[in-house]
Amino acid sequence: MPEATVLLVDDEPEMVLLWERILRGLPEVRFERAYSGEEAWEKVQRLLPEVVVADLKMPGLDGLELLARIRERDETISVLIVTGYGTIERAVEAIKKGAYDFITKPFEKERLRHMVERALERSLLLRENRRLKALKDDFWWEELGIIGRSPLMRELLSLVERVAPTNATVLIRGESGTGKELIARAIHHLSPRRSWRMVTVNCAAIPENILESELFGYVKGAFTGADRDKTGLFQEADGSTIFLDEIGDMPPSLQVKLLRVLQDGEVRPLGSTQSRRVNVRVIASTNQDLEKKMAEGRFREDLYYRLNEVTLWVPPLRERGDDVLLLAEHFLEEYAREYGRPGLRFSPEALEFLKAQPWRGNVRELKNAVKRAVLLARENTITPGDLKLSLRPGAPEARPFYLRPYHEAKREVMDEFARQYLEGLLRHTGGNVSQAARLAGLERPSFQRLLRRYGISAEKFRPAT
Ligand SMILES: Nc1ncnc2c1ncn2[C@@H]1O[C@H](COP(=O)(O)OP(=O)(O)OP(=O)(O)O)[C@@H](O)[C@H]1O
Ligand SMILES: [Mg+2]
Repeated sequence: MPEATVLLVDDEPEMVLLWERILRGLPEVRFERAYSGEEAWEKVQRLLPEVVVADLKMPGLDGLELLARIRERDETISVLIVTGYGTIERAVEAIKKGAYDFITKPFEKERLRHMVERALERSLLLRENRRLKALKDDFWWEELGIIGRSPLMRELLSLVERVAPTNATVLIRGESGTGKELIARAIHHLSPRRSWRMVTVNCAAIPENILESELFGYVKGAFTGADRDKTGLFQEADGSTIFLDEIGDMPPSLQVKLLRVLQDGEVRPLGSTQSRRVNVRVIASTNQDLEKKMAEGRFREDLYYRLNEVTLWVPPLRERGDDVLLLAEHFLEEYAREYGRPGLRFSPEALEFLKAQPWRGNVRELKNAVKRAVLLARENTITPGDLKLSLRPGAPEARPFYLRPYHEAKREVMDEFARQYLEGLLRHTGGNVSQAARLAGLERPSFQRLLRRYGISAEKFRPAT
């Protein structure tokens, strides 16, 4: 049996002590105590106990309300309600509301032990079932919207399966558009933390000075304008997973602070003297060359080693063989439905064309290409011509640009420049078009024209919620 946690809750400390003494002999069980409903709820979120033993009558958040919250968050937590003499009806109500069982005071030691043991068994079983169910079918990831059957993807996803149930910090690496965020979601989804929402932070999209208070929060008066306490994202992710997207772009000053949080498991809001313990699983991702950044002193080595307890490499699309076609069909179906074009198909030439592309923008580029083709296709079949329209020009060209006709070379270099410029800017502003236009010194409409010309959607740079 893996180690399990039992949370004991009563506003009378002596009772908590008494229960713990009775239960102490249970093997592989860790006990936690809380002396109010509020404290218990806070600990439930942070520690994900298997079993909660709670007194029914407590000032403030009482046993029944606590039960209701727990049931809503995670049905695998077993709640045992303890009632005093004369409150049996409410105990029955608790059962109806999903308590695992109740026990009336005064009770026999053996009975309490036995009940907690059974409750533990139930929780562990439910959690194991939940995990197995998620793994059950051959392509479980397709249920999460991840398409792929190539050997490299299977290998990656089998690593995901193995690392998900642990608490290991995971670093997800791979080229832009390969699906790193989807992989992060899959890890969270297969972990015991899945019933809590994963908190995603795009480290590149949030300006440096704001990122710190976003991550760690602040207390009232920490700086001008801080007119109330603000909870940081780390605290919000307590009991759950935080996904630090584009970690390679995190400014060095914050890297130090992040490292401290990872090492101590504590966050201290800006302007506060007190740290708070948090139980957060960290997943980070980047498409940057971290080794190079370290060599240049722009990424901290200690943070790098702390983050990469496990590194998962997401392969580029061009190494995934026929996955390209699976993905293309998948996106075609999706967009044909969305844009009301049922029956739309790829021509055989289009399929060949898709397979031959280098897909430097990976799945995201493929997805965009299919989307545009669905919008633009004149007939009921998509031709290579429909697909070509949105691809990056010049990709397969082997000759250096100065050995090609001047006008052609210039257009390609300019196109590439414009793309990189626009994408970089949007990444910086987190997909905020007005802000990007301002920084570019352009009117918003002309900026948007540029985006349209290069088929760039600002949306994909907005942080996922
Ligand atoms: N295997 C896949 N199956 C289905 N859709 C995918 C797959 N991989 C990626 N996608 C889709 O492609 C797009 C890009 O994926 P995602 O945002 O996860 O990439 P990324 O690796 O985080 O890119 P970046 O480094 O630019 O942030 C998303 O719309 C995602 O849903
Ligand atoms: Mg991403």
